Amino acid sequence: MKSEALNNNQLTESPMNIIDGKATAQQIKAEIAAEVKEIVAAGGKQPHLAAVLVGHDGGSETYVAAKCKACEECGFKSTLIRYEADVTEQELLACIDRLNQDADIDGFIVQLPLPKHISEQKIIEAIDYRKDVDGFHPINVGRTSIGLPAFVSATPAGILELLKRYNIETAGKHCVVLGRSNIVGKPVASLMMQKGYPGDATVTVCHSKSKDLKEQCLKADIIIAALGSPEFVKADMVKDGAVIVDVGTTRVPSTVTKSGFKLTGDVKFDEVAPKCSYITPVPGGVGPMTICSLMMNTLHAGKKTYYR
Ligand code: GUN
Repeated sequence: MKSEALNNNQLTESPMNIIDGKATAQQIKAEIAAEVKEIVAAGGKQPHLAAVLVGHDGGSETYVAAKCKACEECGFKSTLIRYEADVTEQELLACIDRLNQDADIDGFIVQLPLPKHISEQKIIEAIDYRKDVDGFHPINVGRTSIGLPAFVSATPAGILELLKRYNIETAGKHCVVLGRSNIVGKPVASLMMQKGYPGDATVTVCHSKSKDLKEQCLKADIIIAALGSPEFVKADMVKDGAVIVDVGTTRVPSTVTKSGFKLTGDVKFDEVAPKCSYITPVPGGVGPMTICSLMMNTLHAGKKTYYR
């Protein structure tokens, strides 16, 4: 590929494009809001998302507040249900049962993590899969893995939406997924290998026990880094022209920011970016897309797209 001058007058072999997750998320929320307006104008129901928040964990409070704000931006109704950290599993299960039965609630989430005395898996499995807009219920996970319409969990759905909106080719490409978590690594690997676009890729999943991780990365046309290990992916692990999707968001102490920390991705951005064709920054890449995916799932829940 021809060399192109960057703003800072450095030269690179591959013209690099930043994937702007923040702008994409804003655009999608505006599209959702326009569709909701049409639905309501035609006499349809305003989508309604409920969020259950247990305890006062700072991170969870922030996430749930952001989800409620996004609902407002999309024209959805939202309801926040709060419990103290000493709520019993039985009380929480009773709440889920009420939300399952409530015809006005289209979809709901139980914000994780939960206190240790509550089984997260039991709670997830108690949610009616038709209202499981987080896509965590085994029925949604299973349906996703066999290519049936289902609620897909937010981060993998957000990654695929970014690839689609940037027209990034995936068919026949070698995609290396770093990390095998249930909510990112496994589902994104399964989606990338499925028939259709974005998909049809040859997928390799690497994890903490992989022995040839660097060699695998060097062969990758697309790397999806979801290890939670700050700046793990270095320039000498990346082939020229690769597409890099950085899912990492680790809070690393910083003397530069007011808050005393900065969000750091799994990719050493400054040295990797000049080699790439496309790269997602941290922050502002995959992160803003996750809440946006929840909004898309809630719109589908309201329209009963997947389940009647
Ligand atoms: N905690 C961190 N991320 C998530 C998420 O996507 N959904 C829920 N329910 N809890 C979370």
